[in-house]
Amino acid sequence: MTNKVVIGAQWGDEGKAKITDLLAQDADLIIRYQGGCNAGHTVVANGKTFKFHLIPSGILYKGKTCLIGNGTVVLPEAFQEEIEGLKSENIDLSGLKISPLASITMPWHTEVDGYSENTAGKGKIGTTKKGIGPTYTDKMNRIGLKIGDLYSPEALSEKLDVILPVKNKQLKELFNLKTYTKEEVLELCDKYAQIFKPYVCFDWQELLRGMKKEGKRILFEGAQGVMLDVDFGTYPFVTSSNPISGGAATGSGYGPKVIDEVIGVAKAYVTRVGEGPFVTELNDKTGEEIRNIGHEFGVTTGRPRRCGWFDAVTMKYACLVGGLTSVALTKIDVFDTFDEIKICTAYKDTRNGKIYTSYPEDVYIHKYLEPVYETHQGWKKDISRIKKYEDLPLNCRKYLERLEEILETPISVVSVGADREQTIFKN
Ligand code: IMP
Repeated sequence: MTNKVVIGAQWGDEGKAKITDLLAQDADLIIRYQGGCNAGHTVVANGKTFKFHLIPSGILYKGKTCLIGNGTVVLPEAFQEEIEGLKSENIDLSGLKISPLASITMPWHTEVDGYSENTAGKGKIGTTKKGIGPTYTDKMNRIGLKIGDLYSPEALSEKLDVILPVKNKQLKELFNLKTYTKEEVLELCDKYAQIFKPYVCFDWQELLRGMKKEGKRILFEGAQGVMLDVDFGTYPFVTSSNPISGGAATGSGYGPKVIDEVIGVAKAYVTRVGEGPFVTELNDKTGEEIRNIGHEFGVTTGRPRRCGWFDAVTMKYACLVGGLTSVALTKIDVFDTFDEIKICTAYKDTRNGKIYTSYPEDVYIHKYLEPVYETHQGWKKDISRIKKYEDLPLNCRKYLERLEEILETPISVVSVGADREQTIFKN
């Protein structure tokens, strides 16, 4: 196996966890490189459903090293809950490690996230309220805490003397929220230090160096998706990290040359949670049908997901900025009963008829855009038990091959159900 990155190629929830889970079988080291517990990854293994938020799902296999990388933000209570859940299922956690350089989500981060969402009015992003944006903001503003700080009392004390006056001023004056004393925060940090202690990987440099030197197989696990990327997504309606494959380098400790392949996971349709533009969104019976057949409700928040037809304009963009070498197409079985399936190949500006075949980054014009579709005949057959690409119905293969043609990127995996076995590896 070559070293691979698995990223979401749409707005998250593409079924990355299943693909990562399958690839993790052949990996030695699995690294989650960005995001936090805003992510919700569902894996069905041996008839059981596991829900992951931060811990790489590769932990389900014995003998793998799973690293939560420096690029992540970690809410200690959520991490603890996830650990407890896995322990109660007798999952071996001896391979789990967390970078001392990962950022800590403090209580004020979740409080500010909640406050901002509730008072933003038209500026509402529809975040998961897990404190993601405020934690990354403080990291970039150089007033964040990292996990390693918890084990260095002198540095922690000095940092808090700098951070707390700034933070308390912001909390009080900008948000009218509760402020924190140093004693309170030290007490919290003590609690957090206990939570993380068994997993902190202080020798992460030796780990990464050793794995590379020994030719071990590395799998980088992205969360969210390209269209939620803080640089390339539908800004400002995005998350605050880099889900693109480039994020795997900054968020793991390896340089980009360690990566051989980038697999972009996309659903055969599109979903989105939260606010923001979505040109192919269907607010009709078809959208409802996709939501119900595809069980499109959020793992982290339970929110119904917005649904729409496959958008090849954003997907072509994702192939470029995400650096995809292939696509893993999931949930194609959701269309088994459909007479017709549509692919959006371009956008039309309703103001002047202008056609966009490349993604227009100015999201404020998206409300004027309507999708230009091509229509494909459905296959009207249950494909969920098919194991070989050649056995897929002709209309289904035609649809897949048309997608490859438009995207100029091969499809390497077709997923026809939630179970590990319901996966077709093409070529
Ligand atoms: P945040 O990441 O909680 O700040 O939320 C920012 C945007 O990203 C919102 O639209 C969220 O709904 C979306 N988002 C964050 N994580 C996920 C995910 O794992 N799947 C889908 N959408 C997500």
